[in-house]
Amino acid sequence: CSPISSFSWDVYKQGLPHCMKAKDVYSLPWEVRFSITKEMQFYLTAAEGMINYYPPIITKCVAFSEYVQKHWREDAFFGYQFLNGVNPMMIQRCSKLPSNFPVTENMLYLHGARSLEEEMQKGNIFLCDYKTLDGVKANVIHDEQQYLVAPLVLLHQTPDGKLLKPIAIQQTPGEDNPIFLPSDSEYDWLLAKTFVRSAYFNEHELNIHLLCTHLLAEVFTVALLRNVPMVHPLYKVENYAAKYT
Ligand SMILES: [Fe+2]
Repeated sequence: CSPISSFSWDVYKQGLPHCMKAKDVYSLPWEVRFSITKEMQFYLTAAEGMINYYPPIITKCVAFSEYVQKHWREDAFFGYQFLNGVNPMMIQRCSKLPSNFPVTENMLYLHGARSLEEEMQKGNIFLCDYKTLDGVKANVIHDEQQYLVAPLVLLHQTPDGKLLKPIAIQQTPGEDNPIFLPSDSEYDWLLAKTFVRSAYFNEHELNIHLLCTHLLAEVFTVALLRNVPMVHPLYKVENYAAKYT
């Protein structure tokens, strides 16, 4: 029989990729759910991991959290987190400032380097532009309106080549929006950097993680289940992927 009867499309929210119509994981047809053996295997693997790997990981995490606690306000650590975080691809080399980011050379501290122009030519200036978040309507969580920013962040690789430091931040492009600098008061600058971290998280979770993995994979899976009979060789690829990923 055609598999179409069991798998229907649904719209979770307008503008998002379509998803499969299902109340929860237990309402899915048996053939696409994990078997009891597989589910047990998950729990056993998780338990084994907790016993064997958790203690050394926790020891390492404690040392790292202590380090973060001491250094999270520092500009060099902010740059380090960009480079070593989940989404370093956001960092783009900047050879010309974008027209919507009115930063001028006399506003910037370039760690002893001669000029902004020269630093841009040398490839020492970088830009993170969170424009994809501009205009996204933030959610209301527990009756509280949330806020999203779409910052522009200018970063400088210090002349010794060892550090990447933020040198200017605008929370969201716009003529009336101030540009924050490391020379501002400690808490203004810290708040500007905090907003960037929030945008960094949201960009990663919404666009990179959720959209490009889970939501996209679901579209392909539902389309496959609806249109291709179970005897098709494509299912072998899907089984192989499920087994080894
Ligand atoms: Fe995930």
